[in-house]
Amino acid sequence: MRLARTVYSADGRVLLQAGIVLKDSYIERLQALGFPAVYVGDPEAAERFRDVVSESTRRHAIAVVKESFEEVKLGSTLKLEPIAQVVNDIVDEIVSTREVVLPLTDIRKHDDYTFGHSVSVCVISALLGVALELDDLTLRELAMGAILHDVGKVKIPEKILLKPAPLSAKEWNEMRKHTLYGFQLLRGRDGLSSRAAHVAYQHHERIDGSGYPRALAGDKIHLFARIVAVADTYDAMTSDRIYRRGVTPFEALQELKELASEGRRQLDKDVVNVFLANVAFFLPSCKAKLDTRE
Ligand SMILES: [Fe+2]
Repeated sequence: MRLARTVYSADGRVLLQAGIVLKDSYIERLQALGFPAVYVGDPEAAERFRDVVSESTRRHAIAVVKESFEEVKLGSTLKLEPIAQVVNDIVDEIVSTREVVLPLTDIRKHDDYTFGHSVSVCVISALLGVALELDDLTLRELAMGAILHDVGKVKIPEKILLKPAPLSAKEWNEMRKHTLYGFQLLRGRDGLSSRAAHVAYQHHERIDGSGYPRALAGDKIHLFARIVAVADTYDAMTSDRIYRRGVTPFEALQELKELASEGRRQLDKDVVNVFLANVAFFLPSCKAKLDTRE
């Protein structure tokens, strides 16, 4: 099989170039490095289906988020400026792109999950913000809140974060605190709007009031947090994790619809509808079975 997309390390170095024929030894090495999958096929065909944000911008953003979060882990203050720069690059690319949006799943190493996830949630939230016709300043504030939504996880012990099994009640309680920790890290920071800081605090609140940490309901949850909740849920569902495989974009779409339905009231219905109306969930050449059985 030929590699259809270049495989990068977490810090943006090329590990295997698109087009290369995969040997057993490469596959073993990729597995040892923790890659759950790669894209195979014709690299030129893959090139036509470009992601809404370029690979280099995405890789750079992941590297910046990783470095910034790891500094906070070591006790430094979170540096917002480099993050604001990559957020601006992401928003600029999204605003200027006129192509069909394809939610290409970023294939990540398991232990880099938080960083890749932060960037994907930023990209998806910004797409939703554009579709919701937010003005430019608001869009950038939303994207900044989105990329930082899980920053509080730097305060959660790794044995909980990376546990390859369901969490105990005690561990789950600790995990939930990442919302408050994130808000505490971001609140009152120069150059960060308070609504962006509230994304960290509120992104696990749910429309019916069943979320955490404050069990806010409906409009009491800020629009930014309602948008990021949809992006977060979508990306978490479609990503491979240590303990399970991700679902396809189409399966995730059905699940989002279900979570926004009257019966469930977990996610904001309007935001989910905007997502469904603006994102292409099928790649060209993808096989589908119609209800006519064709
Ligand atoms: Fe979270």
